[in-house]
Amino acid sequence: LYARQLDTAYHGYVRRDPMSLLRLGPGRDDPYLIYERIRAGGDLVPTRLGNYATASHAVCNAVLRDRRFGVRAAELTGRAVPDQQVDMSFLDKDPPDHTRLRRLAQPAFSPRQMAGYRERIEQRVGELLDAAAARGGFDVVSDFAAPLPIAVITDLLGVPDADAARFARQGAVISSALDGIRSLRHGIRVKGASDELDDIFAKLFVLRRSEPADDLVSRILAAEGEQIRSHELLPMCRLLLVAGFETTVNLIGNAVNALLDHPEQWEALCADPAGLAEAAVEETLRWDPPVQRTARCATEELELAGRTVRRGQFVMTMLAAANRDPAVYSHPERFDIHRTPEADHLAFSSGIHYCVGAPLARLEAVIAVRQLAERMPGLRRAGAVRRRNSGVIRGPFHFPVQAAGRV
Ligand code: HEM
Repeated sequence: LYARQLDTAYHGYVRRDPMSLLRLGPGRDDPYLIYERIRAGGDLVPTRLGNYATASHAVCNAVLRDRRFGVRAAELTGRAVPDQQVDMSFLDKDPPDHTRLRRLAQPAFSPRQMAGYRERIEQRVGELLDAAAARGGFDVVSDFAAPLPIAVITDLLGVPDADAARFARQGAVISSALDGIRSLRHGIRVKGASDELDDIFAKLFVLRRSEPADDLVSRILAAEGEQIRSHELLPMCRLLLVAGFETTVNLIGNAVNALLDHPEQWEALCADPAGLAEAAVEETLRWDPPVQRTARCATEELELAGRTVRRGQFVMTMLAAANRDPAVYSHPERFDIHRTPEADHLAFSSGIHYCVGAPLARLEAVIAVRQLAERMPGLRRAGAVRRRNSGVIRGPFHFPVQAAGRV
């Protein structure tokens, strides 16, 4: 999903470009070393493919908020959009289309709606921990973090129970494509899942046109013809499914990973889960964010950080690097849940594309981390973490642990 904007910019990678190292072995395990190389090059560093990268918090923030930058890269650069790319609704749009479509989705994430989801999320997290406790050994990702967001999104969109399991299965396959298509077989599976999801949504549209309910799909359908055109319905639903799934899984995975790597902070959290869960999630978002970078394309020639950016050139905004900018944070490399941050982190981006699902992501992750600390203070690793193979989405995909202590 997010990789796509970057893939448009990177038709292949160039080996000696530090940016390209992010996809390779050393960058995957510790991209933060590579971000420091970019930072050492200055606030705005030219890449070998004729674009720019920035690790600066101030420059990232400025680019993401500057209306002279947009996301409609293909139109600006004249480059063809690769075939496998699908329409990702308002994530892929500039105003006025962006504004029109985002306004439709926004109310689903209001504080009132969040309050309504809380109980269901608490219950689901409780059930997942019951099952994990009964087994003793479990995987933080597949047994805990992954089943949660999909259940929540199913609820938010209003997918009927009868279709929910199929929806969850296909959603997981589509999300696996965030890291790129690994093989022809994988490509065929992803295409099959995407067709099946489209089918589920098409059926859902028929149902909710005749029997509207209090859910997002009904609200979107009610606006059809005015605020949203018929061909924009599927991309909007697809965006909400994909954007909210893998990112939240990785936030929970990264939080547990960071906490187990810092035992004194895990202990502090277990001593006061209600008081510290939110801070633990915020510090994870700053220190090891699930979406590591995004990009914007200049719609006109402009001056930025002492350089000229031409129309059609990209700026890679390295969100994870900005979150460790020493010009903004003291000891940025330290994971510290007791920190009072000097600035907002950029884990959810900034400006008009600021993550619309941020309140939901926070709610899910805080409840997950809090209940885990309450029920499994003796949690420990039971094997090595394997990370996903992506330079954009960061998180574990295999994370074995052993429950111990109170459950
Ligand atoms: C946009 C991160 C969870 C829906 C974004 C962007 C980021 C982001 C960085 C902006 C991309 C850019 O500027 O190019 C995350 C992270 C999450 C998360 C780290 C979890 C920890 C969610 C959830 C939902 C969601 C739970 C919904 C169910 C969206 C949508 C957009 C978006 C619809 C597009 C906003 C726009 O273009 O105006 N997210 N997200 N996200 N996110 Fe999230």
